[in-house]
Amino acid sequence: MKKEKLYIFDTTLRDGEQTPGVNLTVDEKVQIAKQLERLGVDVIEAGFAISSPADFEAIKRIAKEVRNSTVCSLARAREEDIRTAWEALKEGNRVRIHTFIATSDIHLKYKLKISREEALERAVWAVKFAREIMGEKAEVEFSAEDAGRTDLKYLYEVIEAVIEAGADVVNIPDTVGYAVPDEWYEKILSIRENVKNVDRAIISVHCHNDLGLATANSLMAVMAGARQVECTINGLGERAGNAALEEVVMAVKVRSDHFPVYTDIDTKQIYKTSQLVSRLTGVLISKTKPIVGDNAFAHESGIHQHGVLACPETYEIMKPEDIGLKESKIVLGKHSGRHAFRKKLEEMGVELSEEQFEEAFRKFKELASRKKEIYDVDIELLIEGLEGAG
Ligand code: KIV
Ligand code: ZN
Repeated sequence: MKKEKLYIFDTTLRDGEQTPGVNLTVDEKVQIAKQLERLGVDVIEAGFAISSPADFEAIKRIAKEVRNSTVCSLARAREEDIRTAWEALKEGNRVRIHTFIATSDIHLKYKLKISREEALERAVWAVKFAREIMGEKAEVEFSAEDAGRTDLKYLYEVIEAVIEAGADVVNIPDTVGYAVPDEWYEKILSIRENVKNVDRAIISVHCHNDLGLATANSLMAVMAGARQVECTINGLGERAGNAALEEVVMAVKVRSDHFPVYTDIDTKQIYKTSQLVSRLTGVLISKTKPIVGDNAFAHESGIHQHGVLACPETYEIMKPEDIGLKESKIVLGKHSGRHAFRKKLEEMGVELSEEQFEEAFRKFKELASRKKEIYDVDIELLIEGLEGAG
């Protein structure tokens, strides 16, 4: 099976910065953008140019300094938004305007107070206007905000019209994280089957994580033919966040037997990028966060430790080096067994007779029943207390 490319659109600096409590300086945004470029993301959504002078400045600098990823600005389907986005982007090497308007009845009625017809007209106008002021060199992406709750026939109409107007990418956001995987798969498939000339544009998805389904929904969309996924580092974003880049990318890599796509992400940069984003945003990473959490490559139980020490694949489906980590962690705790304890002593350069080893192991188990994690210094003290050792 010939694999197709899956484009990775990173919105850490736009949707990710909408995480409550996060506020990055221009310099910090530039630093993250450069790391995203090293990571190999195809598109960096650097911000929402009209939203603040700082966002404008950050997009302008990122467009100038990042040459290998496409740099993108968000813009509502309004003239001043699109003009401002272009003003920020125009010195870039590869640039994109991402224009959007809501299409669900609830957003049209309560937020925009316009009809479906008017929203459709504005969407088409915005795509044509962006195309016109940017010329052929730049790309136009259109998003139908709250597509997940938009009447399907109307959604087909909008998509068809914006493709006709010249959109290169059409993004289908599950803005409120309401979709479930099988339904989302059907929706993307039905768009591909019912929209005229759908292959002229790349179909993209942007899934929020309110029900913890953002990664699953994004991957189901890929199975249905989406070829761009919008995501963020560590799953940052509005409310419960967006699909996590590291999860989508590693799922595609680890299960390359299953997915009909590949990405150009240098996965060895994942851990470093995750740490940088966590440090600069101040949003801590849960220990059990898939791929990048402290425990993602840590083993505590004796049975698991024995297995991993004998052959890592017994309990690891990916290598720590694949995400840029040196090695897995064998955590010594109350569930650990002799194999892990012996390995730790070897690493510390401690040599014991069998009798001393058994005594040390007994003391270690006794300590571990009172203390959550055992550190090297605990073991040093324990060895010092052994008769004839230390
Ligand atoms: O969640 C959403 O719908 C968005 C759009 C602006 C793409 O962030
Ligand atoms: Zn979003």
